[in-house]
Amino acid sequence: MPAHTITQQEQDALLKAAQDASERAYAPFSRFFVGSSILTVSGQVFTGCNVENSSYGLTNCAERTAIFTAVAAGADSGLLEIRAVACVNRDGVPCAPCGACRQVIYEFGPDCVAVYRNKEGKITQTPIAELLPEGFRLR
Ligand code: THU
Repeated sequence: MPAHTITQQEQDALLKAAQDASERAYAPFSRFFVGSSILTVSGQVFTGCNVENSSYGLTNCAERTAIFTAVAAGADSGLLEIRAVACVNRDGVPCAPCGACRQVIYEFGPDCVAVYRNKEGKITQTPIAELLPEGFRLR
């Protein structure tokens, strides 16, 4: 299997987990309910949803919730490595990971693939390195 792809079965499972998570999103301000799931190299799946706040800038996106949950759980023996990340809007609206989340995804999965519905309405698998060319690294 080429790098930067997951199987159809893995994709279906990730999208289902992300869709389920989107049902738990707390988004009373934007009404844009997002769910995310990540597949780690050790085969675990973690999920997250967006959590908004009355002080709008404190909002946490679904992808970062999923990643922070995985780190806090000690995924991949404490060194999280993401193979794939899915991002889903509860109501089927196209939803690619935002810029901030791309950098956070890149931190833990520079070779991973992002799965989401693109502007054409099609589910796509796109390498994070394509979504975030020259992602930032300290060294
Ligand atoms: N949102 C996410 O959860 N993930 C993204 O990649 C895009 C945006 C959330 C943040 C906010 O709660 C709502 O969608 C509208 O921007």
